Amino acid sequence: MWESKRAAAVPGSVFALMDAAKGRARAAGLSVIDLSIGSSDQAPPETVLDELRAATRDPDTYRYPLFSDTALLRTAATRYLDRRFGIKLNPDTEVLPLIGAQEGLAHLLMAVTDPGDILLLPDPGYPPYLGAAAVAGLNPVPLPLHAERGFLPDLDAIPATLQPRALLLNYPNNPTSAVADQAFFQRAADWARQRGALLIHDHPYAELTFGDYRAPSALEAGTAGVVELHSLSKTHHMGGFRVGFAAGDAAAIAALTRVKGAVDFHPYLGIQRAAARALDLPDEVGRAGAATFQARRDALVPALRELGWQVAMPQASMYAWAQVPGLTDSVTFAVRAAEQTGVAVSPGRAFGARGEGFVRFALVQPPEVLRQAAQRLATVTVT
Ligand SMILES: Cc1ncc(COP(=O)(O)O)c(C=O)c1O
Repeated sequence: MWESKRAAAVPGSVFALMDAAKGRARAAGLSVIDLSIGSSDQAPPETVLDELRAATRDPDTYRYPLFSDTALLRTAATRYLDRRFGIKLNPDTEVLPLIGAQEGLAHLLMAVTDPGDILLLPDPGYPPYLGAAAVAGLNPVPLPLHAERGFLPDLDAIPATLQPRALLLNYPNNPTSAVADQAFFQRAADWARQRGALLIHDHPYAELTFGDYRAPSALEAGTAGVVELHSLSKTHHMGGFRVGFAAGDAAAIAALTRVKGAVDFHPYLGIQRAAARALDLPDEVGRAGAATFQARRDALVPALRELGWQVAMPQASMYAWAQVPGLTDSVTFAVRAAEQTGVAVSPGRAFGARGEGFVRFALVQPPEVLRQAAQRLATVTVT
């Protein structure tokens, strides 16, 4: 009775099925290796935690944070974007703290679109994208990401008659772990500008890159008509702190500020101080964190390949995207794998129709546990 059409339109999640399967594995006495959730298992840098500890003892942090109080984090964010990508932004008009990128996206869509507008979004893609589109009353149009194109959308294939209000992209990508170069972002920004759409780039894996590979920013293509969402969740292992920032087109940031003014009061000042400290850390700190995930990739991917799995070697992110062996559908495989071996992975179907045929491994366990997970998966039977 008390469900709005908006609430009813938020899609349910396949993850409930996985939870139940993990429960059955535990009940059967199996030890569960949970690789189904992309939450970092690392700790934030100690200096970041010190900043937060000190803030909790400072009574000035106990009040509601006003917009003017966000200056510290806004200026740290602009320093980071300049240092890392060479992008110079005005901290007063082109940057806004978020309570995580996920919150930011949901409110950004409400701020820059109207009900019924078309949102182009990746398929497969991060599942909350569809929920955010539903809450904003949008008409989501999936952009297929295919392995043959490196999981980049074919913008030329989008019919000229379609009039999207926004184009949502995410590289390094969840779930495929694909990456995009600067030339791609330039093409996407040009395309969006021509079509009168806002390019929204969700960038939580900006620093989770391996070897010499460094991820570009969509803002390198200019800020007009582009907004990028950054997060401290993965890059600084601060997922539970709920903090990130939006950066880019001043008009879109102003609209987002207005909408957020109606629903929240900015992150706790202590968390803003901790996030500002994190963003000012030298790049080597982020590289060291990324190396942990690289070592896990180097354990899991060869182990899966030895067992005959087809899986690309990711250059970034905290995932491996692997083809389901045989002709089994991804949900059946993931449920059976959890029930029979205790290894929980995410079925590709959970990320959209084009995710079918794949499963996603989150690299959230040490290398030896990942190797053990691969060995266990070799024994799964699906008939
Ligand atoms: C693509 C993508 N966007 C956003 C998020 C959530 O970021 P945050 O913790 O900043 O809300 C995730 C988390 O897994 C993600 O994979």
